[in-house]
Amino acid sequence: MTDFYAVVGNPIGHSKSPAIHTAFAEQTGQDLKYEALLFELDLFAEQARAFFEAGGRGLNVTVPFKLDAWQFAEILSKRAKRAGSVNTLMIGKDKKIYGDNTDGVGLVRDILQNHGGVIEGKRVLVLGAGGAVRGVLEMILAEKPQTLVIANRTVSKAQALVDEFTGLGSVTAVGFEELSSQFDLVINGTAASLQGDLPPLPTGILADGAWCYDMMYGADETPFNAWAREQGAARMMDGLGMLVEQAAESFFIWRHVRPGTEAVISSLRAQLKRT
Ligand code: ATR
Repeated sequence: MTDFYAVVGNPIGHSKSPAIHTAFAEQTGQDLKYEALLFELDLFAEQARAFFEAGGRGLNVTVPFKLDAWQFAEILSKRAKRAGSVNTLMIGKDKKIYGDNTDGVGLVRDILQNHGGVIEGKRVLVLGAGGAVRGVLEMILAEKPQTLVIANRTVSKAQALVDEFTGLGSVTAVGFEELSSQFDLVINGTAASLQGDLPPLPTGILADGAWCYDMMYGADETPFNAWAREQGAARMMDGLGMLVEQAAESFFIWRHVRPGTEAVISSLRAQLKRT
């Protein structure tokens, strides 16, 4: 029997998840159908319940419902608890709804495996302190960076994350204007790129050979990656690989089969360039 999965969000028309999961299913011979569903704002729980009652097996959850999904799940994975948000839901054999968050794994796998990067022992700067950053901090810290600094416009939000994650490694919070030391890896998790904007970064914060990662992606270089190039970064990466890797981890949770990601990333990149 064909199993049914979907990605839900609002808006959702732009989602690449159906193409990614359909490619994974073809590649691994899994019998499943995966669609994008527009959920009404304020009706997440009702619509998610209806999806599972109708026999749906799993959901990916995107903006603005990741917190609703966290509340909706009956059983949360350890990493989802810590992330404070859920991007993957599934119904178990016991009919309970399980929630997980695969964003952090997706980011770290993209940096380490697809780009051959290293986080261990590095001085890491994370820009932003919203839901996107909270979702990936545990997995970055699990790689044991030498230090992790969180810079945010609203410093109190960065400090709240520090208070929450400090047991997992050396984490500190600063405002952008206080940034002075140098970093080996800078990860942009602010929503600034969405508005074609750049966080107010001082010059001279990239160490020799520094790598920069924008969790956003687009057809063109993001404003943050353009800044990184001008500042002499050794490598600029964007979030397309993270998108595919978080999807691969969801697919693995649902199907217990790990799909290859390289060809899917290349084909999405080629599509983006054509748009
Ligand atoms: P998300 O789920 O994408 O993380 P969010 O929780 O609203 O969304 O968080 C957005 C993040 O981007 C915040 O860190 C925000 O900074 P503030 O906490 O100070 O609001 C940051 N952000 C958004 N636009 C920005 C801009 N133009 N420059 C710098 N930071 C920006």
